[in-house]
Amino acid sequence: MIRTRGLVKRYGAHAALDGVDLSVPAGSVYGLAGPNGAGKTTLLGILAGLKESTEGEVTVAVTPGEVAVLPDTPKFDPWLTGREVVELALALGSPGGPGPARRDADRVDEVLSQSGLSEASDRRCGGYSRGMLQRLGIACTLVARPTLILLDEPASALDPQGRREVLDLITTLRGQATVLFSSHILGDVQEVCDAVGILHQGRLLFQGPLSDLLVGRAVPRYVVRLRTKPDADVVAAALTALPWVHSATVSDGAVVQVEVATLGQAERLLPGALAATGVPVVSLAPEAVSLERAFLELTS
Ligand SMILES: Nc1ncnc2c1ncn2[C@@H]1O[C@H](COP(=O)(O)OP(=O)(O)OP(=O)(O)O)[C@@H](O)[C@H]1O
Ligand SMILES: [Mg+2]
Repeated sequence: MIRTRGLVKRYGAHAALDGVDLSVPAGSVYGLAGPNGAGKTTLLGILAGLKESTEGEVTVAVTPGEVAVLPDTPKFDPWLTGREVVELALALGSPGGPGPARRDADRVDEVLSQSGLSEASDRRCGGYSRGMLQRLGIACTLVARPTLILLDEPASALDPQGRREVLDLITTLRGQATVLFSSHILGDVQEVCDAVGILHQGRLLFQGPLSDLLVGRAVPRYVVRLRTKPDADVVAAALTALPWVHSATVSDGAVVQVEVATLGQAERLLPGALAATGVPVVSLAPEAVSLERAFLELTS
């Protein structure tokens, strides 16, 4: 759906984007993660046709009329009501202008409700809170049923419930549209994306299926949870003495982190070694590799 080659954007001497080869598969939900200043907004702006690149190629496989963009801080004419803003977005976003009035009204109601704004829809948006403006932006983005949706930090101003609703909304778009959204909230990216790009200082450090990023980084580490700190001390001492255990350290009170040579070895030997200590074990699990950990490893 989107492909860039050697994309560069310079502001004076500073390269906000420095040779980005982005590839967003059609129908995917793609998460663009990166710290502040990584170049996410700049990249989305270029893809949306709002900014010019300095060098490189950009190919977007749909016409500009099929693309909808949610800016990071959406702004609207303050004298319009939420409903009027969405009606305007529908009129502007529909190819060939507004459709039959009845169908339009239904569609506007539908997206206002999906965005959690039904009750506030007849109030002037000048009085909306930041989170409500973000919800209104989302309603405007979706109303004309675009094929490609670019969302810049769609959940950044939202309360936990609002964030949940936006993530659920993005999930329902899967298959109907291609969604590219930027976020520095890695949990959100991990939850809804099938593909991720990690942008750092204008460079894409990783791009591909989320599973590749996480599996490729699996660390042979186990977490053993016990009832008490003395139990944890006993287990850590016993495991440290074993030749196939690299290290066993007590953390967070009654938790032992065990680093082993290979996961397979640990799967065979660890349960027996724990049983031999005679200490009651609450749980034993391989350490989950989070996107956050992979991200920190890549960007540090
Ligand atoms: N109009 C501009 N003029 C000069 N420098 C700019 C301009 N816009 C962006 N930059 C610089 O480009 C870099 C990337 O900025 P960008 O806004 O794309 O980052 P971001 O990943 O969206 O960050 P954030 O998470 O804070 O939104 C930053 O160093 C920023 O200072
Ligand atoms: Mg930004």
